Amino acid sequence: MAFTATVGNQQVSCGEDQSMLDAFLRAGVWMPNSCNQGTCGTCKLRVVDGDVDHGDSPADTLTAEEREAGLALACQARLRSDSVVETLGGAVGGGITHPLRDLTATVLSNDEIARDTRRLLLELPEPLAFHPGQYVELTVPGTQLRRQYSLANTADEDKVLELHVRSVSGGAATERWIFTSMAVGDQIPVTGPLGDFFLPAEDSDDGGPMVLIGGGTGLAPLIGLARTALSRDPGRRVLLYHGVRGVDDLYNLDQMAELTKVYPAFTFVPVLSHEAPAAESVHREGFPTDHFIEDVDSARGWSGWLCGPPPMVEAGVRAFKRRRMAPRMIHREKFTPAT
Ligand code: FES
Repeated sequence: MAFTATVGNQQVSCGEDQSMLDAFLRAGVWMPNSCNQGTCGTCKLRVVDGDVDHGDSPADTLTAEEREAGLALACQARLRSDSVVETLGGAVGGGITHPLRDLTATVLSNDEIARDTRRLLLELPEPLAFHPGQYVELTVPGTQLRRQYSLANTADEDKVLELHVRSVSGGAATERWIFTSMAVGDQIPVTGPLGDFFLPAEDSDDGGPMVLIGGGTGLAPLIGLARTALSRDPGRRVLLYHGVRGVDDLYNLDQMAELTKVYPAFTFVPVLSHEAPAAESVHREGFPTDHFIEDVDSARGWSGWLCGPPPMVEAGVRAFKRRRMAPRMIHREKFTPAT
């Protein structure tokens, strides 16, 4: 059974067991989204007319008062009748939407690139359109568990996806699959693209300076964003900090060196939190957010991009605001780190 959701002048058919977000994105109709897990609130909308089942919407994200007022989380709610909905804060379809799709990828490689860190290259049977910085979901074999991994690719690298995966002790996806049994040639289901962690469309990109701060494998989406921004404007100021515990956690250093060589206004700063840098190395000690405050006197007119452990992201938001970055220019990847 399916119901119809009407938003503005668009109508989307939603299956009984399908979230509104899933239905809209598969139909190529943009709806704000980030975590797809009911935790960030980005997909909150108003049900103007009709009935919905709120499913597993957490009370922290959708309060009883909000439900009472007709609000719902699009990533959790299922329609129970034909309905009319309104998104909050932004017109649906305002940007280019790459439809959400399910594809079966072939594992091309699964290599250790740093301490407890793998790079997965997944070949798709056909190109997948996405915005650099978005993520995909992998389904752990034999389970219903889905895990989210950011794409490190630029938009033209749409046939072989690059994901960076950090091992988590006891993790169902990492320790019990990717780091142990996933082999080259395996066929795995991939769903994507998802998320709103991406640059504005080229014609509305102001080309201003950017600072990107990634913790651990939070570097992945920042690579796609930085390379895209630099290809749009090779003279753009782009400052990329990679925070890790020690030198063994750093990776993609050749790629960073190449970008530094090709784009003189690009700066890569590796920061070690639990190890003193060797004499004369380019590594810095401490936390990337503290170094950003030391390096940049004013971030007015800059955009900021954060992906990593929640404390690092929160520290990044504080650091950006301290340097006068406009809140609307601060972007955070909000999905929960995969296990
Ligand atoms: Fe729905 Fe985060 S709560 S996308």
